[in-house]
Amino acid sequence: MTYNEIRKVFLDYFAAHGHTIVPSASLIPNDPTLLFTVAGMVPWKGILQGTEQPFAPRVADVQKCIRAGGKHNDLDQVGYDGRHHTFFEMLGNWSFGDYFKHQAIEMSWELLTKVFGLDPNRIIVTTHTSDDEATAIWKKITGKDAIRLDKDNWWSAGDTGPCGPCTEMHYDFGPEFAGGLPGSADEDGGRYVEIWNDVFMQYDRDANGNLTPLPKQNVDTGAGLERVAAIMQGVHDNYDTDLFQHLMTAVSDVTGVSRTDENTPSFKVITDHLRAVGFAIADGVIPSNTDRGYVIRRILRRAMRHGQILGHRGALLSRLYPALITEMGDAYPELARNEKHVLEIIENEENAFADMLQNGMKLLDAELPKLNNKILPGDVAFKLFDTYGFPLDLTQMILRDRGIDVDTAGFDAAMREQKERSRADTKGTRVLWESQTQLNATDDAAKYAPSDITATVVSILRDGEFVTSADANDTVEIALDKTTFYGTQGGQTGDSGTLCRDGAPIMTVTEAARANNIVIHKGTLTAPIAVGDIVTPVVNATVRQQTARAHTATHLLQAALRTVLNEDVEQRGSKVSPDSVRFDFSFGRAMTPDEKQAVEDLVNKWIAADMPVAHEEMSIDAAKERGAMALFGEKYGDTVRVITAGDVSCELCGGTHIDRTGEIIRAKINKEKSISSGIRRITMSVGTLAE
Ligand code: ALA
Repeated sequence: MTYNEIRKVFLDYFAAHGHTIVPSASLIPNDPTLLFTVAGMVPWKGILQGTEQPFAPRVADVQKCIRAGGKHNDLDQVGYDGRHHTFFEMLGNWSFGDYFKHQAIEMSWELLTKVFGLDPNRIIVTTHTSDDEATAIWKKITGKDAIRLDKDNWWSAGDTGPCGPCTEMHYDFGPEFAGGLPGSADEDGGRYVEIWNDVFMQYDRDANGNLTPLPKQNVDTGAGLERVAAIMQGVHDNYDTDLFQHLMTAVSDVTGVSRTDENTPSFKVITDHLRAVGFAIADGVIPSNTDRGYVIRRILRRAMRHGQILGHRGALLSRLYPALITEMGDAYPELARNEKHVLEIIENEENAFADMLQNGMKLLDAELPKLNNKILPGDVAFKLFDTYGFPLDLTQMILRDRGIDVDTAGFDAAMREQKERSRADTKGTRVLWESQTQLNATDDAAKYAPSDITATVVSILRDGEFVTSADANDTVEIALDKTTFYGTQGGQTGDSGTLCRDGAPIMTVTEAARANNIVIHKGTLTAPIAVGDIVTPVVNATVRQQTARAHTATHLLQAALRTVLNEDVEQRGSKVSPDSVRFDFSFGRAMTPDEKQAVEDLVNKWIAADMPVAHEEMSIDAAKERGAMALFGEKYGDTVRVITAGDVSCELCGGTHIDRTGEIIRAKINKEKSISSGIRRITMSVGTLAE
């Protein structure tokens, strides 16, 4: 049977046994605890847990999975044996409170031995130490004594959630292969290979490790298609199955290099990574520097490195992608449907990295003879990362074959130093203010609801020097002990206004900025001022309203983009100014004119609906519970502000906002363009400017 036929035969078998067949869910899970779909059960977690109702009592599918980050991570093994993949397909059948252990085992056994025709004598079974029931069922159906194991026969997707004992079926490739029985010290030797796992989901595990029996007893099974194919095609190595052979032929065609024993690891890595990168991007992942985007960027760069080992330069996966469509496009139409988008993204990534890879390798080759032990200094690894885009794991992979380690602590230290340098390297006078360590943080608690307060002048900066007094017409920066001004932060431009003394204006403030926790009022004096003066900060209410409506409009824009484009759109940066918005977000291609119009229309519809905008303070846990969107990589305190616009947007945000969406008046998208690979920028006007 060919690889593609096995998929079909599996589904046909379960369809004939009353299962509803469903297509694979996306590799991007609807589950914040996971970067990728790591198993067939991920899309069914809610049903298994009892929080969602099943639409059918029995289902079966073939699920796309990636295990390349977090708890389930096989990235480092790929290429070194014939059984591991970052991307693989999991054949699975589920019972949601319908059949349980007996029928699950019976069907697995029948499919393996009768339909797939595997030799029953070559199948070894294991059960959990606590599971006498499954052990007895195996004995009854097959006469086999299961090997009883503890940890290996307990399955969960994450640290919390549905879990339970499982029973595994292993295939014995025969004594010509090294390796011991499941559970033995050398079980990974390769003689016995796990092919199918039937999990009996009986419990829900909470964060403290407590097990609660689930309302319904469910079955969750998973068999790796790649392994089943190897066994059925009489090969020991998954990469020797028909599908991988075809992909490897494509690698030879593109690189002009034939496969040899020596370069086989590179052929394996490239074909594996082609599937991971191709499928992930077709499902909407964009290579980036954070979370799942970074996993895919790293995998792509590792593939390019292996292309380089084969003597190939430049674009590789983008040239192999058509072969992936040929092999797997029938089963997964999204590969061809999204071909243009996927190719564009991969080409961008490959072009961006091709020269860096060559130059980085030159640097590395020059450094290696200098090592007097087998450890690459952290600052060299950091230079490779920072200047040449080598993810740390790529450098480690390159050096692993030469028996050289990387000083990762030194790498982390270099990373920290660079962050500090870039913080200090800011424009203007921020560094001067930051050196004033004796200053207390400005009390700006009144900024969300400016009222008349009296404040004391604590510091004056003029021409790069701190002075005790300044004169009319001087351009200065002033810190007060407290203020109602919002100092520029979180992408929102600070307030403007005036400082008054005894009811008369003495300074025009053009912008309130921030240095650490100090709010700095920048502007020009209209009267002399001295440290110790009592003043009243007066915020320009019109400009503040313009900025606040732009900020609320930014939240609506993000919600509209996620509605019109997809849920994967994420904010990558923003600048909120009076009546104007600049918003950067992750998305892999240009928006069509229709999409732009649809986003603008949706924002205007929400404005016209005049929805209330709630500003609330709560604990970070309560905010998460509510599903508030946060910026990845951003640090938040224990108490956060949550801005909720009607039922369309809920975000953590420290900015100033209006009270009803109607105050925005109108929104108009001016431009949409690319600013870097996978990142788009929209500029939008609101309020009277948009009108
Ligand atoms: N969820 C089980 C596994 O991934 C079937 O092994």
